Parts: sequence; structure tokens; C-alpha cells
Amino acid sequence: MEYRIALLKGDGIGPEVIDSARRILEAVGEKYDRHFQFSEYLVGGAAYVATGAPLPQETLNGCLASDSVLLGAVGGPQWDNLPVHLRPEQALFALRSGLGLYSNVRPVRMYRALKGASPLHPDIVAAGFNIIIVRELTGGIYFGERGRRTSHLYDSEEAFDTECYSVAEIERIGRVAFEMALGRSKRLTSIDKANVLESSRLWREVMHHLSAEYPQVELADMLVDNAAMQLIRKPAQFDVIVTSNMFGDILSDEASQLTGSIGLLPSSSLGNTTRGLYEPIHGSAPDIAGLGIANPIATILSAALMLRHSFGLLAAANSIEAAVEAALDAGCRTRDLLMGSQAPTLSTTEMTEEILKRL
Ligand code: IPM
Ligand code: MG
Repeated sequence: MEYRIALLKGDGIGPEVIDSARRILEAVGEKYDRHFQFSEYLVGGAAYVATGAPLPQETLNGCLASDSVLLGAVGGPQWDNLPVHLRPEQALFALRSGLGLYSNVRPVRMYRALKGASPLHPDIVAAGFNIIIVRELTGGIYFGERGRRTSHLYDSEEAFDTECYSVAEIERIGRVAFEMALGRSKRLTSIDKANVLESSRLWREVMHHLSAEYPQVELADMLVDNAAMQLIRKPAQFDVIVTSNMFGDILSDEASQLTGSIGLLPSSSLGNTTRGLYEPIHGSAPDIAGLGIANPIATILSAALMLRHSFGLLAAANSIEAAVEAALDAGCRTRDLLMGSQAPTLSTTEMTEEILKRL
């Protein structure tokens, strides 16, 4: 059986971390006798420069014709002043909605070797944490009506963005989260701002309604401001979190720092088919692009998620995750993971090779 993987390198450190992940996939394919066929497509600023569009039709078609998609990162300061529809981020939104990927799953766990890298108090770190953030990805304020208009009150320009969720949208992301909680500790925290937002009140209603279908899962609501605090105060209280597009965006960056570095966190975006989009949660890091020092782990772990969720290759996925953990245990550190340690700083390629050795 052949697996067709679309590789979207994108901008900044994207090409470097995708090259690392490809090497790992090739090695694991050999080990488990699976054949991965890679096709590269342009995305983001790189695609804009080459074709005038951040998501060329050829890229979207290539992704639709693939079994799964692995993406590096998009964006960079040189494209900050482009009109909105040409900005590199538009490619992400068009891919997410074009491929129907409404559920974004971001696992946040503590690595034993990196306990010292967490900015949290040692007592909090000692309790450990293993959180899954389920972020709604194709609705809410990211996709709602927005624009500029004249304010009648102040006789000047004003801008607006709209948070809008339908029952169907909340239900389908809710189901993903409840199912995930069923397979884990059976605890689900739904995060909203129901004391202020009507869309959050509907969100809460629908989650409670769904909860009747999942009596084994204990559902708790939490307001987003409190959740931002609780993540740092006592991360161990969370297991599966479900939240809206924007709250999930913000909380997942916050949660990433609990692990020590955003360079560790993978993500998967899925819809109703097995075709997913897998990407590190970090951005294109233009400040270190091309220097060969980016941490490839988040992208390598994203590739592992692809093997597990899109292809059902559980042993291969586990072996990548074990190799990453073994490299970290052995003291391998890219620059973002140093945190005062005396370990020699590995380059992107060196870290990749340390992981390859342990596959
Ligand atoms: C993410 C990113 C994107 C988002 C940006 C690059 C538009 O922050 O995937 O979390 O906000 O969704
Ligand atoms: Mg983000």
C-alpha cells in the first residue's frame, strides 16, 4: 500500500523542519516496509512570490488528491502589508475550510527530560500534565463577517469582526472532544465566555445537551479568563479541553510554554475523512529562518500523528515518538530547549540525526 503525502514547506523555518520530518518518515517507512510518496506544493508567502496567490489552485488540488498533508509554517514580515486576501495566513484558512478540517487537536504533554525547561514552579511540574486541546477550526470569529464602516456615534471609521457559531458546528466539534475524553480519563472541560458572549451561551447549551449522550464523561465548563489562569496554576486538573477557534488559538500558545518550548508541539486537523493536515503549532520564525537551528521536533511529531490518525500505522507512530523521547532523555537539545543547561546546542540536522539513530 502506498501513502500519498502532500508536503507544504511554506515560509521561514518551514522548509527546514519539513526536510527533517521527511527524513524521519522515509526511515520509518523502510523500517515498517511502507511506501510514502511525497509531492511538494507551494503555500504561503513562497506561493505568493512564485504565483501571486498564497494558496494556488494546484496546491489545493494536490492536497485533495493526497492521503494526507504535512505543512511547515507560513508567514513573514515581508508580507505584512499585503491586502488581506493575499496574506500567507489566508492559505491556512483556505486549506482548513477547503479540506473540511473543523477539528484541530493539540496535545500538550510534559517530557520527563524537560522538566527543568518548564517556567512553572517545580511543585507544579512535579504533578505533570498531559492535556489535549480540541480547537474548533473552521468557524467562529476567524470566519465570521468582518469589515469597516462609518461609526455614526463618533463620525469616524470603525471595524468589526463577528463570532458566530451554529448548533451543528458546536455539535460536531463537541462530539470529537467527548469521544476523545471517552478514550482517556473521561474528563472534559469546555471553555467559553458565557458570562458575556451569546455565541458562548449557545456553545455551553449544546455541550450540555451532548453530554447526555456521554454519561460516562464528566463535563465541566470554565470561563476562558479563568482557564488562562488555571492552566498555569494547576495544569494537572485538565485532560481534554474543547473550545472555540480563537480561544483555542490563544490557550494553545499559552499551554505550549508549560512544556518548555513551542518547538515541541505538533497538531492535527481533521474533518470527516482520514485526510488530515498536520503541522507544528509554531510559526515560521523568520528571525531564525535559514540558520539551521530550528527545533524539528514539533514537525516530526506532527508526522507521527499523521501516521496514527490518517494511516492507522500505530507502531510506526509510536516508534517516532519513542525516538524523540529517547533523544531528549539522552540530553539532545536544540537552542530553544537549552534553558540554562550546559548541553551542546544541536542544529536542526543534528537533532534530526539523533532521532534517526534511535528509530
Ligand atoms: C495557529 C496560528 C494561525 C491561527 C495563524 C498563523 C493564522 O496561530 O495555527 O495557531 O491563528 O490559526
Ligand atoms: Mg496560533
